[in-house]
Amino acid sequence: MSDAPEDRTGTDFRWVPQASTIAKEAGARLRQFLAQGVETEYKGDVDIVTVADRTVEKLIRGRLAEAFPGHGVYGEEGTREQLEAQFRWYVDPLDGTTNFAHGFPHFCVSLGLEQRRLGGRAGTEPDEDGTLVASVIYDPMRDELFTAERGRGALLNGRPMRVSRIPELAESLAATGFPSRKRHDNPNIHFYQEFTLRSHGVRRAGSAALDLAYVAAGRLDAFWEFNLNPWDTAAGILLVEESGGRVTDFSGGMYQLDSRETLASNGLIHEELLGLFADMFAGRNLSPIPTPQEFAQHRAARAAMAG
Ligand code: IPD
Ligand code: CA
Ligand code: CA
Repeated sequence: MSDAPEDRTGTDFRWVPQASTIAKEAGARLRQFLAQGVETEYKGDVDIVTVADRTVEKLIRGRLAEAFPGHGVYGEEGTREQLEAQFRWYVDPLDGTTNFAHGFPHFCVSLGLEQRRLGGRAGTEPDEDGTLVASVIYDPMRDELFTAERGRGALLNGRPMRVSRIPELAESLAATGFPSRKRHDNPNIHFYQEFTLRSHGVRRAGSAALDLAYVAAGRLDAFWEFNLNPWDTAAGILLVEESGGRVTDFSGGMYQLDSRETLASNGLIHEELLGLFADMFAGRNLSPIPTPQEFAQHRAARAAMAG
């Protein structure tokens, strides 16, 4: 028998088992909609919604009410239930609608649970953040289930997951996204350019929730985006934290659910990312990008130091 301590991550999850069943049912419904094809409606010039978004939110809302009576629900497609409750689910029934509508098979269901009154404290203000306590993100096309509860670790399909150990931006793979509303006002293209030149590349795959789940799983080393909403981020943030990563705003401040700035990483490259954000926001000259020779020398020196 092995002497290694048994990894009990996930064995005492409290909300995840029922929420996972709900997310899988919702994901199966999304697969059916994808197969049958759906009409696209426009909310804005490129902001689209489909019958799948609305039907699946309704399904999730009903299932959550059965599984967790007394919990609140705050969904992208308009659900606002029991917002005074101690617990609140942030629901994105379909994160990656644009992908879905084009048949690009990269989207997910995202359910994040916030506890809004802790330790007997008087209730938090209606707009004030509580603590994220449980996460479920389900990718129905790959049948991948990402789950976490605060203090109890994070799992991918039942196996413990950890962020990557990449130590520098120059060796990292990052991701970002661009909003579908007011996209002409968004400065992200400048950040996209700089981070692309300074890393192995920046993916723009169209699902912020999966981007965060991939940071948690060590498939990406960093993710950032401007102007996300709580239903995009609630579940993914806790996944990253429970997998050993770090999430802040672009100045390194504590992440708030209504934050307009989301920066998640494996933790090891976070300070370097914050430095780049600070320099770019201040309009300072950025440090030069090393030549291939300089970079090779740097890697050799680092390997020698590591022994
Ligand atoms: C969008 C996706 C996308 C991100 C957008 C979000 P939706 O969510 O997460 O990756 O770049 O900002 O609005 O509309 O597909 O649920
Ligand atoms: Ca979304
Ligand atoms: Ca959505």
